[in-house]
Amino acid sequence: MQDGMNLTSTSKISSLEIILIIVAVFLLNLEPCVCACAQAEYKINEQCCPMCSPGYHVDQQCTNYTITRCVPCLHLTYIAEPNGREKCLNCSTCDPGSGLRVKTQCTRSSDTVCEPLERHYCIDQVRGSCTQAEKHTACCPGHYIQQEGTALKDTVCDVCTAGTYSDGSLQTCQPHSKCEDLGLVEIKPGTSSSDTECGKQTSVAVTAGIIIITGVVVLMVVAAVGVGVFRKKMYRHVPPAGNHAV
Ligand SMILES: *[C@@H]1O[C@H](CO)[C@@H](O)[C@H](O)[C@H]1NC(C)=O
Ligand SMILES: *[C@@H]1O[C@H](CO)[C@@H](O)[C@H](O)[C@H]1NC(C)=O
Repeated sequence: MQDGMNLTSTSKISSLEIILIIVAVFLLNLEPCVCACAQAEYKINEQCCPMCSPGYHVDQQCTNYTITRCVPCLHLTYIAEPNGREKCLNCSTCDPGSGLRVKTQCTRSSDTVCEPLERHYCIDQVRGSCTQAEKHTACCPGHYIQQEGTALKDTVCDVCTAGTYSDGSLQTCQPHSKCEDLGLVEIKPGTSSSDTECGKQTSVAVTAGIIIITGVVVLMVVAAVGVGVFRKKMYRHVPPAGNHAV
């Protein structure tokens, strides 16, 4: 029972403490605001002056009797926020050497925005503007493009599985050609980067045919010559029949 009472009083005190801490923190946070200038003012020479709008810089500080004099930023300079600056900032340039090109031109009130060149992706970015880009990886032969590169991501390559091939430029690996299905014969087996090489089956048949025909012709010539010799031998024993062909 005693313990239960203690527990209740402890929790009461801690919630009170929490409220006090919150109030103290709130007051502490407020305190610097009392000595500082209003939100649209800046402090100069122990005095609060109105800020210049984005795109303008301070030309003359305010006095007890005059407000701040602001003038527009010059060409290729800018200031993006309300400010008490005496000079505008130089506009950034998009360096093609860093893989960059202009996405949005600089204005008086906003810096240049850079983006990656074609077939490049951003590797470093500051406030929505790319500061460094690199070329997309080209997939090697034997790999296919699993995911095309974007302005923010590099290309993703993956290996072709057995029985398929890609030269690295394909979105999917192509299956090796089956020479038999094409009525051809395989000359060279396919690899992960090249297709099977097929040749004409008929070329073999034609070669064989040429050899056979050549053989037959040779045989016929030999036979003809043989027959001729044999006939000559026969005619020697037959008396001349005279020239009655004309
Ligand atoms: C401006 O006013 C403040 C207080 O109102 C005064 O202390 C200061 O001397 C004045 N400055 C000038 C330059 O008159
Ligand atoms: C801004 O550009 C000007 C002219 O190109 C140059 O003289 C100056 O040093 C640059 N300022 C900064 C802070 O880079």
